[in-house]
Amino acid sequence: CNVVVLISGNGSNLQALIDSQDESHPMQVRAVISNRAEAYGLQRAATAGIDTQVIDHRSYASRDAFDDALIRAIDTYQPQLVVLAGFMRILTEAFVQHYHGRLLNIHPSLLPQYKGLDTHRRVLAAGDPAHGCSVHFVTAELDGGPVAVQAAIGVHPGEDIAALTARVHALEHLIYPLAVRWFAEGRLRLGDRGAMLDGEPL
Ligand code: GRF
Repeated sequence: CNVVVLISGNGSNLQALIDSQDESHPMQVRAVISNRAEAYGLQRAATAGIDTQVIDHRSYASRDAFDDALIRAIDTYQPQLVVLAGFMRILTEAFVQHYHGRLLNIHPSLLPQYKGLDTHRRVLAAGDPAHGCSVHFVTAELDGGPVAVQAAIGVHPGEDIAALTARVHALEHLIYPLAVRWFAEGRLRLGDRGAMLDGEPL
């Protein structure tokens, strides 16, 4: 299963995916594409011997033009799966359609709660007892696609945002490689009515 990963920043989830690869894994990260040249994840990819590309959204006149360039670059690698790992651009409907059923994202909340940015602060402000992260198939609705894997933790009394963020991030590094492995093994897929694991609705 050839995978292309899109990033904008640190790339710790990318690193977790890279680290999960071995000879027995049916998944191979073929390329990492960033919209920001300074994204540290590009160095992580280069260190692992993975192709990298920068496609700077500021060089394109429109979102459509940027997404077209992105599609062309991604499709050079003929990936079965495209993985968003901290890619901080909203994708067009055309892009999302093009990769229907083979585009995953990870979001730091227990979706459908807390779509969008700033999730950890909002969870603390609401006094929620639990928080977590979700891997989901991407659809046209931002952070609204069918959830594939979700992990939850309790929020500690008095916990600050840095500690909570770090704990959720560590959880992301567990569930994203798991979801990608299941997809690569043909166990996880997007059905007509949502995500399916081993032929059963999730
Ligand atoms: C993660 O918190 C992920 O949930 C969100 O962006 C962040 C990326 O972190 N979509 P990293 O670049 O993988 O370290």
